[in-house]
Amino acid sequence: MAVIVLGIETSCDETAAAVVALEGSVPVVRSNLVRAQIALHEPYGGVVPEIAARAHLGLLDRLISRALAEAGVGLTEIDGIAAAAGPGLIGGLVVGTTMGKAIAWAARKPFLAVNHLEGHALSVRLTEGVPFPYLLLLVSGGHSQLLVCSAVGGYTRLGTTLDDAAGEAFDKTAKLLGLGYPGGPAIERAAREGDPRRFSLPRPMRGRPGCDFSFSGLKTAVREIVARRPNLGPRDVADLAAAIELAISDVLAERTGRAIRIFCERHPEGRALVAAGGVAANQRLRRRLSALAEDCGLDFVAPAPAICTDNAAMIAWAGIERLRLGFVDALDAAARPRWPLDTRSERKG
Ligand code: KG4
Ligand code: ZN
Repeated sequence: MAVIVLGIETSCDETAAAVVALEGSVPVVRSNLVRAQIALHEPYGGVVPEIAARAHLGLLDRLISRALAEAGVGLTEIDGIAAAAGPGLIGGLVVGTTMGKAIAWAARKPFLAVNHLEGHALSVRLTEGVPFPYLLLLVSGGHSQLLVCSAVGGYTRLGTTLDDAAGEAFDKTAKLLGLGYPGGPAIERAAREGDPRRFSLPRPMRGRPGCDFSFSGLKTAVREIVARRPNLGPRDVADLAAAIELAISDVLAERTGRAIRIFCERHPEGRALVAAGGVAANQRLRRRLSALAEDCGLDFVAPAPAICTDNAAMIAWAGIERLRLGFVDALDAAARPRWPLDTRSERKG
């Protein structure tokens, strides 16, 4: 019999609802709806938390109805409701979890408070069925982390960013280039026509011990180049975008190479390097990581770009994984703006 879970995602600026079923041992995405709020935040060059929370409130109930209708299920056929409960912007998290709890209460179904990062971490098991353990590079707008994933709920962090996340580096440098928001896809598009070698950018942390990242020096270097060229032409923008994409990919690949050595030593049975989170949609980065994994005898696996960026299918799937293990949450489970995946880690999650 199928296990069917409704997923809700409202942790940042995407309002999302999805229905995922586990049919025997096969996961099936029955519906996966995402309403981006790009136009609402674009004038501000970044996400405005209050605007995001209000937009979630206005969009979510109809989106859930549509997700259920597209999946061809009613609430009685659902086995659980999973909502992203953190980390993220508290207003949006409260909207999503309150909606999830209300539905769970009214329909008398289990509620699952899902860690958004766990949604990203497990997304590759939804799309590719990757077995534990695997090494994960989780790169999104708020997080850059290297994690060993050894079980549902079992994550060991090997590295994290000391300042900006990789997605933030894309977003902030895109803003400096006048490329708009979100920056990652805009830089990727502009970079296609660019020469990545014309401008030289730093590679923060290269050669340093450990697996931590740093990106703020990159942003400063781009700011200085832009300040020296008040009239950036399309050629300059394309070349700078290509240099930024290459520098971020280099930094991520170098730190991931170190993490692979630790992972293979600790888990000789491990087979895969996985990338997830919005930045993992970047094609240059994917090619780079794929070559790195091959050199180290690992498979490189990343979900399709639509499952890399924020979505509710990954939340529903994490809900299914947790429900199967009996990890159900009470209706007073709190929304948590900060919620590290590896609870032993001390720095920002
Ligand atoms: O996972 P995500 O959708 O939301 C968070 O949890 O943060 O990631 C969003 C981030 C943004 O910073 C966006 O610029 C970046 O992912 N991103 C990309 C690409 N698509 C999205 N970065 C580089 N290349 C892309 N194609
Ligand atoms: Zn995310």
